Amino acid sequence: MLTNDQLDKWDRENFFHPSTHLAQHARGESPNRIVTGGSGVYIEDRDGNRLLDAFAGLYCVNVGYGRSEIADAIAAQAKELAYYHAYVGHGTEASITLARMIVERAPKNMSKVYFGLGGSDANETNIKLVWYYNNILGRPEKKKIISRWRGYHGSGLMTGSLTGLELFHKKFDLPLSQVIHTEAPYYYRRPDMAMSEAQFSAHCAAELEALIEREGADTIAAFIGEPVLGTGGIVPPPAGYWEAIQKVLRKHDILLIADEVVTAFGRLGSMFGSHHYGLEADIITIAKGLTSAYAPLSGSIVSDKVWKVLERGTDENGPIGHGWTYSAHPICAAAGVANLELIDKLDLVTNAGKVGGYFRKAMAEAVGDHAHVGEVRGEGMLCAIEFVEERDNRRFFDPSKKIGPQIAAALLKQGVIGRAMPQGDILGFAPPLCLSDKEADAIVAATVKAVSAVVG
Ligand SMILES: Cc1ncc(COP(=O)(O)O)c(C=O)c1O
Repeated sequence: MLTNDQLDKWDRENFFHPSTHLAQHARGESPNRIVTGGSGVYIEDRDGNRLLDAFAGLYCVNVGYGRSEIADAIAAQAKELAYYHAYVGHGTEASITLARMIVERAPKNMSKVYFGLGGSDANETNIKLVWYYNNILGRPEKKKIISRWRGYHGSGLMTGSLTGLELFHKKFDLPLSQVIHTEAPYYYRRPDMAMSEAQFSAHCAAELEALIEREGADTIAAFIGEPVLGTGGIVPPPAGYWEAIQKVLRKHDILLIADEVVTAFGRLGSMFGSHHYGLEADIITIAKGLTSAYAPLSGSIVSDKVWKVLERGTDENGPIGHGWTYSAHPICAAAGVANLELIDKLDLVTNAGKVGGYFRKAMAEAVGDHAHVGEVRGEGMLCAIEFVEERDNRRFFDPSKKIGPQIAAALLKQGVIGRAMPQGDILGFAPPLCLSDKEADAIVAATVKAVSAVVG
C-alpha cells in the first residue's frame, strides 16, 4: 500500500483538481484529503478522521454512503453487460426502466428522458434542444437564454455562461453572447430593505420583463433557473416568485428550463422542486440525486410540447445530431434504478422534509440571534447561514476577510463538513436525505462552536 506521503507527492505533482487554487495546491500550501470510505452520513480519510458530511459530497450522495443495494446493482450490471451504446434505438433493461421510473415521478407534462453524465452536459443538451426547437418552428432568431445572477448551471462553455457567478466567467471569456442574466431572487439581498417578499418577487418579474422587452421577445428562447438557488447561496425563492416569473415567460412564449440537478428526487421534501413550487417546466435537468452519485448520470427530461417538435424535426431532417458515447450507460442506469428504489423504500423524500425542517429550526434557534448572523434559511434538506459584519443595517464582511471559509474550516475541526459557498460569507448545508435528528443536532452543536471560534 502506498504511504500517505507518497500519495500527497503524486497528488501535488500530477492531479489537476477542479475548483481548487492550483498554485497553492501544487506548492503544498493547501490541505488535501484522501478519502477512503463512507457509511451513512459519515466519510473516513487516510489520516483516520471520521467526518460528518453535512454537504453529501456536492449535494449528491442523497441516500448516504455505503449502500450495498446500489453497489450490488452496479456489480451485477458490470458482470452481465458493462456497456452498450444507446444510439439508433439501442437500450438495456436498466436504461429503459430508469427512463420509465423518472417520467413516472416527474410532473405530468413530461414525456422522455435523454441521459447524459453530469449536470453540465445535461444543460448543454438542453440549450441545443431549445435552439433546435425554435429552428424547427421557423424562429431562427429566437435563441438567447436568460439565466439569473447567482444561478449555477455547470462549468462548460454554455453552462459556465449560464452560471451567474463571477469566478466562473473571469478570464474564461464567458459568458457567451447568447446568454443574458437577470436579477437573482435573493430576498435577503434585495435592493430596497422596505420591500416585502411579494413586492420583491414582483420586482424580479418586472426586471425580467424589462430585459425581455429591451432584447425583444422574438430573440429569447428560454429562461433557466434552479427552483432554489444552490451554489449561488442556497436561497429559496421569495413568496410568489415562480408564479410571477412563469406569467412573464408564458406571455412572451419563452420556454422554462427547471434545473433540478440539486432539487430532484427529494432534496426539498418533494419528489421534484417543480412540484414544490408549482413550476410547469418545458425541460427539467436532473443529475446528482438520480444515482446519489454512486455512478455519473444526468438527464434532460423533455415535455410533450418540446418532444412533439423534436419528432417533427427528425421527420424533416433525419436523426437527431446529438449523443454521447456514454449516454444511458448501463452501469450508471443500474445505479439509478437501485437508487430510486431505495429512496422509495426508505421514504427519504418524507425524511428530507421532516428532518430537514427540524435541522433548520434547530440551527436558527442556535445561531439565528448571533450578532454576525444575518439570516438562517433553507428548504427541505438545505440550510444556509449568511454572516454579516453588522446585522442591523445588513453590512457584509469585506470578502478579503474570508469569514465564510474560516467558519467552514473551524467546522471541519469539529468533525463536520459544511461548504463555504463561493460568493458571500455563507455556510451551506445539504446533508444526505437519510439524516437523523441526532445527526442534525451534532451538526448544529459543531456549528455553534465553529461560529464562536471565528466571529465570537
Ligand atoms: C443546479 C446545478 N446545475 C448543474 C450543475 C452542474 O452539474 P455537474 O457538476 O454534474 O456538471 C450543478 C452542480 O452543482 C448544479 O448545482
